[in-house]
Amino acid sequence: MDRVAIVTSGGDATGMNSAVRAATKLLRARDTEVVGVESGYRGLVEGRFRELALPDVEDIQRHGGTILGSARSPAFREASGRERALEELQRADVDGLIVVGGNGSLTGLQKLLADDQPGPSSPAAVGIPASIDHDIGYTGTAIGVDTALNTIVEAADKIADTARAFDRTFIVEVMGRKSGYLAMTSGIAASADLVAFPEAEADADELVDAVVETATTAAARQDRSGAALAIVAEGVDVATEDLKARVDRRLGEIADEGGPSIDTRVTVLGHVVRGGSPSGFDRLLGSRLARVAVEALADGRTGEMVGWMLPGEPPDAARRSPADPYCWLVDLDAVIAETRRMLEGESQLVEWRARVFEEIRDVLML
Ligand code: F6P
Repeated sequence: MDRVAIVTSGGDATGMNSAVRAATKLLRARDTEVVGVESGYRGLVEGRFRELALPDVEDIQRHGGTILGSARSPAFREASGRERALEELQRADVDGLIVVGGNGSLTGLQKLLADDQPGPSSPAAVGIPASIDHDIGYTGTAIGVDTALNTIVEAADKIADTARAFDRTFIVEVMGRKSGYLAMTSGIAASADLVAFPEAEADADELVDAVVETATTAAARQDRSGAALAIVAEGVDVATEDLKARVDRRLGEIADEGGPSIDTRVTVLGHVVRGGSPSGFDRLLGSRLARVAVEALADGRTGEMVGWMLPGEPPDAARRSPADPYCWLVDLDAVIAETRRMLEGESQLVEWRARVFEEIRDVLML
């Protein structure tokens, strides 16, 4: 390996900078040149590379976002765009590539590697999972998830203070695209009364019923606060504003019939959850995954993702990293196939998560 390029791609995830920093330092220690690709795959297609030296990565670990920039690149989704990217990599004499990103980015990497025949050949490449959504197959977590979870919990705790003061029902929407992982985990950690997520496949009517039931049950509590907290993943079947409007209509009818008068409010946490200084864990995770990626490239590996503590049975296409007992190298094709199963609700892991929440649904309300 003489020259390695690092790309951060897709939705930024706080902790990406730790991966960039660790990879740069470890590669420089091996006398390998390092180039950063600006603006994700868009910059790869346009050949926007810049040398990364030690001063460039100094102290970046405590900042959110990514110093390299990111983008969602329609050009890279086309075979012609990926061919241009391969040409640019060749022109820049790059023989190793590290892609830090989520499922779209890893799918892009898989395609880049698949495309290199008969066109310009691709450098050896390894992916590092980074996405707050935690929707990537065969990794126990991804860069950015822990910080996002902590941000949601902090916000939910603050919301609970004001909710209790007024005995209100709060609907808090959290990011996650088609994955309910952040909603589920923050729901437990912040003691939500209801958690709604796309994997449960509830339709809009069922979601309205669930929030109304949660609000009225909380209001009927005699011995404690009547406030309720519903954490709702953005990917559920109904937009949060519509959900509130429909819940308010039903609660209005209940009040007209002599029931309690229940006030609702909505907080959409949105991109707040994606930014901020990374947690200690996300910094450590970014650094360790980067080290394994560097070691894998040095060992001549390609077409793999570094997975963190694989949940469930490791697939045949995974092997434990000799560099770190917590990490696995998983064939990218297997990662993408499992990611697809997760997003379609067919992965055993996702089915298990949904089942657990079905089982504890009433417990959450106690
Ligand atoms: O994939 C990360 C994520 O933050 C999702 O949770 C969210 O749905 C999406 O990106 C938002 O994308 P954008 O920043 O392009 O609006």
